[in-house]
Amino acid sequence: MIRPKTEEEIALMREPCRIVKECLAFVGERIAAGMTTKEVDDLVYRFIKAEGAEPSCLGYYGYPASACVSVNEVVVHGIPDGRVLEEGDIVSVDLCAYKNGFHGDGARTFRIGKVSGENDRLIRVTEECFFKGIEGLKAGTPLYDISYNVQRHAESNGFSVIRSYTGHGIGREMHEDPSVPNFGRRGTGPRLEAGTVICVEPMIAAGGWRVKVKDDGWTAVMSDGKCAAHYENTLVVREDGVEILTL
Ligand code: MF3
Ligand code: CO
Repeated sequence: MIRPKTEEEIALMREPCRIVKECLAFVGERIAAGMTTKEVDDLVYRFIKAEGAEPSCLGYYGYPASACVSVNEVVVHGIPDGRVLEEGDIVSVDLCAYKNGFHGDGARTFRIGKVSGENDRLIRVTEECFFKGIEGLKAGTPLYDISYNVQRHAESNGFSVIRSYTGHGIGREMHEDPSVPNFGRRGTGPRLEAGTVICVEPMIAAGGWRVKVKDDGWTAVMSDGKCAAHYENTLVVREDGVEILTL
C-alpha cells in the first residue's frame, strides 16, 4: 500500500537525505585508484556517524557494511572487501542514512581515473535515465511512466535495464511500497499522489540484463561479465513536479 507522506514527515526526511547527498559527494572527492572497497566503506561509515546518523545498510538482513561498493561487472550490493580499485574501473557506491526516524537513499557511479569511452557513456546514460525517468513526473502520473522512460532511454542507447532489482518507496522503512521498476508500459500502474516519496534508481548494463547473485548471497554480477552502472536519488512527488532530496 502506497502511503504519501505528510509535510511534517517530509521535513524529517530532509536531514537523512542531505547526509546521503553530502556523503556521496565526500566519497566522490576521495575515491581513487589504490583504495580498497573496504576503505570506501570506512569513509561512508565515519561520515554518516559524524553526522549523528546511522548507516541503514549495516545489518540490514545481515548485510555486513555501510555501503554497497560495486565494481565494473558487479551491478549492485557489492560487499566492501580488500579489492583494490584500479585506473579504468567504474564503481557504484550506494548508501542509506537513518536519522529523525527516517531513511535517505542514494547512489552514484564513479570513474577511477580515465575510463573507456564505452564505460564513460554507460555512466552518463545511466544518469540520464534517472532524469528521463522523472521527466514530467508530478501528482497523477502513472507509476510505470517512470519505468518506461528509463527503459526507453537505456535501450535506445544500446544498453539494457536490470529486471531483478527495482527502485522503491522509502520513509520509516528503507524499502516501502511501491516498487519502481526500470522497465514497464507507459500509462500503467497506480497514479502517484502528491507527497509520495520514492527512490528512482536506474541500474543499466552495457550487455544483457541477466544477473546472478554470488554465493555470499548479496553480490549481484552481470551474467555476461559486462559492466553495469547505477544512479539513485530519493524524491518527493509534488503537485507540479518533483523535489529531489538527495541532489
Ligand atoms: N540502498 C539500496 C537500495 O537502493 C539497498 C541496499 S541493500 C543493503 O535499495 F542491504 F545493503 F542495505
Ligand atoms: Co534504493
